[in-house]
Amino acid sequence: MITGHVFIATSLDGFIARSDGDIAWLLERDNPDEDHGYEVFISDIDIILMGRGTFEKMRDVRPWPYSRPVVVLSSTLMQSDVPGDLVKKVRLANKAPEEAMRMLESEGHRKVYVDGGLLIQSFLRAGLIADMVITNVPVLLGEGRRLFGKVDADISLCHEETKSFPSGLVQSRYRVEA
Ligand SMILES: NC(=O)c1ccc[n+]([C@@H]2O[C@H](COP(=O)([O-])OP(=O)(O)OC[C@H]3O[C@@H](n4cnc5c(N)ncnc54)[C@H](OP(=O)(O)O)[C@@H]3O)[C@@H](O)[C@H]2O)c1
Repeated sequence: MITGHVFIATSLDGFIARSDGDIAWLLERDNPDEDHGYEVFISDIDIILMGRGTFEKMRDVRPWPYSRPVVVLSSTLMQSDVPGDLVKKVRLANKAPEEAMRMLESEGHRKVYVDGGLLIQSFLRAGLIADMVITNVPVLLGEGRRLFGKVDADISLCHEETKSFPSGLVQSRYRVEA
C-alpha cells in the first residue's frame, strides 16, 4: 500500500514560509553540525510529491537538492516551466491527491514524501498521510504560509518521539491515526 510522509520545519507559531515565500529565517537557523534526520528519512522514500509553491521556490536552486524523482502537482504550470536540466528529474501532474497516489502506486512507488503546506493540508484531509516529522524552529513570524489549515473533522495524531537540539530546534514525530 502506498503511503504519504511529511518532513517539514515550521516557526513556533506554525508557518513554513513568510507570506512572500521567504524561508531565509529557516535557512539561517539551520546548523549544519546537527543531524536532523533528513538523510535517514529520504533514504526510505521512493518519490517526492511537491506543491507548485514549493517547486517555484526550489526551481532555480543548484545543485538540485532532491535525490529522488519529483512530481509537481499543479493545475497552472506548463512543461516549459520546468528548467531543461530538470526534465529527467521533475514532471508535472494535474491530479487530485487520491488520483496522484493511485498513479504513483501503479508505477510501483510505495513511500511518498509530500511537501508544501497547501499540499500537505489537502493530503491530510484525504487521509493520505501516514506520519509527520515536524521540526519547530524557535522563532515567531506572526504571519505567513501555514503548515496546517482547515480540516473536515478532527485528525488524531499519535505522538511517537520528540528530540531537541542544541540550536533550539525541537523535532517531533507523529503517526496519523486512521
Ligand atoms: N519550512 C519548510 O520546511 C518548507 C517546506 C516546503 C516548502 N516550504 C515553503 O513553503 C512555500 C510553499 O508552500 P505553499 O503552502 O505556499 O504551497 P505548496 O503546497 O507547495 O503548493 C500549493 C500549490 O500546489 C498546487 N496544487 C496541486 N494540487 C494541489 C492539492 N491537492 N492541494 C494543494 N495544492 C495543490 C496548487 O497550484 P496550482 O495553482 O498551480 O494548481 C497550489 O497553489 C514555499 O515558500 C516553500 O519554500 C517550506
